[in-house]
Amino acid sequence: MTTAAPTTATGPAGAPPAVACRGLEKVFGQGDASVQAVAGLDAAFATGEFTAIMGPSGSGKSTLMHLLAGLETPSAGDIAIEGRSIVGMRDRDLTLLRRDRLGFIFQSFNLVPTLTARQNIALPIRLAGGRVDEGELEMLASRLGILDRLEHLPHELSGGQQQRVAVARALITRPAVVFADEPTGALDLRTGRELLGSLQNAARQRQQTIIMVTHDPAAAAYADRVLILVDGRIAHELRDTDYEAIAATMAEVGA
Ligand SMILES: Nc1ncnc2c1ncn2[C@@H]1O[C@H](COP(=O)(O)OP(=O)(O)O)[C@@H](O)[C@H]1O
Ligand SMILES: [Mg+2]
Repeated sequence: MTTAAPTTATGPAGAPPAVACRGLEKVFGQGDASVQAVAGLDAAFATGEFTAIMGPSGSGKSTLMHLLAGLETPSAGDIAIEGRSIVGMRDRDLTLLRRDRLGFIFQSFNLVPTLTARQNIALPIRLAGGRVDEGELEMLASRLGILDRLEHLPHELSGGQQQRVAVARALITRPAVVFADEPTGALDLRTGRELLGSLQNAARQRQQTIIMVTHDPAAAAYADRVLILVDGRIAHELRDTDYEAIAATMAEVGA
């Protein structure tokens, strides 16, 4: 049930994993004040797989996500998105890769205050010069319970509603890989479950790869696999697991 070594997952029929890293390290600061946030980490995230990343506070979860998403530069090691190394990639190419293949759901929603919820959701498509499928936008909004809030500005929405607008904005482009850091943090129980169901659905039915940081074993139980970080390394990997097993392993590592 619990193994210390990460598996090297490969996608369908020999395709490279959606995301992979090898020997990944990140050190912040210098000398005595330096912190090794990620300490030599190998992992692979297969296409269509939903992975939850857990671990005690300060174990490197957010840093790992930022590295994998190309938002932070590693101190050592390699990261590949769909088989292409992003370490040393030109800024312009990385920006395009992020725009075309990756979606982000972070704790700060970063909604544009002067745009309605509908306009915020459509923004990534408009920025990429695409045409917005309003039917699809409304279906997504309906699944997330914000269909009746679409014509409102962010400041007219609750924190949970703003979070769901940010989620819809991340999913509307159907990104190959979705990175989510504590996506249910600002949501009530029911809305949180709907969001987790949407992420699970995106993985199972649309083969989107989901990488989600959470501290909640109930949220992690929606994932196909749970990686538990301790001191910047993978201490445990659990597959096809449940709330009790996740909570027990978290207790074991003192989280
Ligand atoms: N920008 C930064 N500068 C210095 N130290 C950082 C920075 N970001 C994270 N850290 C440190 O790296 C370690 C891991 O942080 P983080 O990845 O945020 O952990 P988690 O998300 O698991 O709580 C912590 O000790 C944290 O203080
Ligand atoms: Mg964090």
